[in-house]
Amino acid sequence: MKYSITSSQKIDSSPACLVLVAKPASNIGAQFAQLNKAVRQAISRAQKAELFEAKKGQILDLPVPADGGPERVVLLGAGAAKSLSAANVRSLMESLAKHLKQQRQGKVNIIADAVAAKCDFQTLARHLIEAMGDVEYRYVKQPKAARDKKPGFTFNITLRCADRGAAAEAKKGAAIGIAINKGKDLAKTLGNMPGNVCTPTYLAAQARKLGKSHKLKVKILSEKDMQDLGMGSLLSVSLGSRQPAKLIVMQYNGAKDAKQAPHALVGKGLTFDAGGISLKPGAKMDEMKYDMCGAASVFGAILAAAELKLPINVVGVIPSSENLPDGLANKPGDVVTSMSGQTIEILNTDAEGRLILCDALTYTKRFKPATVIDIATLTGAVIVALGHQTAGVMGNDQEVVDDLLAAGETSLDYAWQLPINDSYKKQLRSDYADLANIGGASAGSITAACFLSYFTKDFRWAHLDIAGTAWGGTVGKRASGRAVPVLTQYLIDRC
Ligand code: BES
Ligand code: MN
Ligand code: ZN
Repeated sequence: MKYSITSSQKIDSSPACLVLVAKPASNIGAQFAQLNKAVRQAISRAQKAELFEAKKGQILDLPVPADGGPERVVLLGAGAAKSLSAANVRSLMESLAKHLKQQRQGKVNIIADAVAAKCDFQTLARHLIEAMGDVEYRYVKQPKAARDKKPGFTFNITLRCADRGAAAEAKKGAAIGIAINKGKDLAKTLGNMPGNVCTPTYLAAQARKLGKSHKLKVKILSEKDMQDLGMGSLLSVSLGSRQPAKLIVMQYNGAKDAKQAPHALVGKGLTFDAGGISLKPGAKMDEMKYDMCGAASVFGAILAAAELKLPINVVGVIPSSENLPDGLANKPGDVVTSMSGQTIEILNTDAEGRLILCDALTYTKRFKPATVIDIATLTGAVIVALGHQTAGVMGNDQEVVDDLLAAGETSLDYAWQLPINDSYKKQLRSDYADLANIGGASAGSITAACFLSYFTKDFRWAHLDIAGTAWGGTVGKRASGRAVPVLTQYLIDRC
């Protein structure tokens, strides 16, 4: 994607396409007469013929006789309401981006004063660019299929703002949108990759690569290193796999003070979850390649933070493993000892995410983090509770939870809080260890978070269950790039 933002209203550059984002009535904005003239009165003629009422989301695409000016004009209705929420703006921009791609119109001038008047230029530019990023994204298959070798569709937009102040605001929003797009693209691609390509070793190599391109400190812990640290819970999940487990650590240090307490992001990196000996049913098991989307969102958020040069420190910790059935694999009833010293009875080997996260969370203590957020495709139950629209959030610190909820609202990457308290924690009682790894049939997402809470007592912590939002729903069998927007916003808000 290419973009430029200007306060110049000159439209003499023969753009392939001129987009007017219009409000109802014939007055499209101060430049109406000039624009209308540039497109040979196409706008006023369409309005006279009642072809365009500017209803919210209405699109009218008009060809214009080519004589040196724009070859077509696209009108997008912004509706009659006085103000538009960020979500309204995003859905308008999504309709526009989809339409332009369908028409193969990548090079566009956009005049969106009428929408900006109903929100602000920063929100407008951010969501315009994010919507275009989602539409532009293409997964290039591994290995490359012939048609994937052709260049994909890209946008080249010029956003023409009312004045200099507006352009400055729009530039701020665009920078955030571009950084989030880069983070989401990386998260989507890692998520979409097949499990035989995207292994723990592959993720570790990607971390090294990101470290080189964005000046991160990267450390990869091997199984031997983890053994020395006593990570008996994490390592037990990997016993059934031929792929060695990795613990990936990425540090972005943007704060002036290198010792400033970092915000830690801990992402579940199960590169394939077959369930282990508690084997999953066959239907849709392929989707368990997405079980590393928490890890992918940590990659994406750290990339976005580095792109934005945020003046804070961030540490990403990614426990990565496969979960497969095998003669050596965990069995129901096995008891393992976590790095914290707490013992765990594994009553279901498919509740493996918490087993790798608990040791990663204990490890995170050494960074003396300001806050810790773990992100995981942890439970099918969160899809039952919240669908594919909203992530579940739980934690031991209401302020951290509230900050995440607020970041979700701003970024439109929504989360909703579920309760965790002692009455649920009782469900994890075990006769053979300090804790069982499952809490029975009810409140599955909550008991999973309760389990993690036994490993987060020493810091301010929140947990995001993204099993519903990381793929599926309206995006279909594709990684969505969530929770990159909410995490990036959370980090922006800490600056
Ligand atoms: N990765 C799954 C959670 C999941 C399931 C995400 C379906 C998306 C769709 C996780 O490891 C898991 O298997 N969880 C179990 C926990 C249960 C055994 C307590 C689940 O949700 O069924
Ligand atoms: Mn599982
Ligand atoms: Zn899993």
